[in-house]
Amino acid sequence: MDVFQAIKSRRTTNGHFLNKPLSDAHIKMLLEAASYAPSHFNSQPWRFVLIRDKARRERLGKIAGRSMREVMAKGDFWKRYLKYFRFSKEETEKTGDGIHIDNMPAVLKPFVKYLFSEKGGEMMNKLRVPYILAIDSKKLVANSPLILGVLLTKEEYKKNEHSGLYSLLSLGMAIENIWLTATALGIGVQFISLPMEAGGAYWQECIDMIQPPDDFELIALFRFGYIDPNAKRPTIDWSSAQRKPVSEFCYEETFGNKWIPKE
Ligand SMILES: Cc1cc2nc3c(=O)[nH]c(=O)nc-3n(C[C@H](O)[C@H](O)[C@H](O)COP(=O)(O)O)c2cc1C
Repeated sequence: MDVFQAIKSRRTTNGHFLNKPLSDAHIKMLLEAASYAPSHFNSQPWRFVLIRDKARRERLGKIAGRSMREVMAKGDFWKRYLKYFRFSKEETEKTGDGIHIDNMPAVLKPFVKYLFSEKGGEMMNKLRVPYILAIDSKKLVANSPLILGVLLTKEEYKKNEHSGLYSLLSLGMAIENIWLTATALGIGVQFISLPMEAGGAYWQECIDMIQPPDDFELIALFRFGYIDPNAKRPTIDWSSAQRKPVSEFCYEETFGNKWIPKE
């Protein structure tokens, strides 16, 4: 696959993957791709932990489900990210960013704009939205053939030092390399952020499962699997393929002076 084609077709996979383990050869390709990412002084500050054992994936599924329910029921998550929610194709075309909530049970549809609003939290809980999301999340994580723990060395990942920024940038590039390689191999990827968003005991449980030594920090979890073209969408789901045009986010010489590329 051509690089630009892989970049443009890379997507987050929100639904279930094929019930088929990833081959070691493919996992090795993903991780080799990570290792070729740039890093400050070629420090390669990342480490990865593969979680494939069924019982452990199920345990992570439970953590993902419970953390999803707690975070969504509390309501501050919605408020914090509300500005990114879109409810129609026209809105996504107009803004070129955000996520379009484009799949949900018919009973929720008439309330959608109200549900995802500053005041919608109570109604959201009455209609059991956090519960619906939690059930899906638990199954999606537990049934993913591979969960990847991504870590950074604390020797470089020091939050108030330049190396902290450098190591995070390096890791971002490594993850993108993994994601693009996955795209070329027909492997889907999704970030699992709810245990981290919930924090506290939820995130600690993930750390305890991975058992990093004191000088490594767990930064993120991702789930992987072969893409199932016939997968049913999650009960409440979104899509976000739209992008802003270059002229809207790139400036010439000074910030704000739009760069309009010659066609
Ligand atoms: C730092 C970061 C955190 C994200 N958190 C989540 C998440 O918790 N759940 C999820 O499904 N997607 C998550 N995403 C995926 C984004 O929502 C997604 O990349 C964006 O909407 C663009 O869609 P695309 O990846 O399909 O192009 C995250 C992405 C990044 C880079």
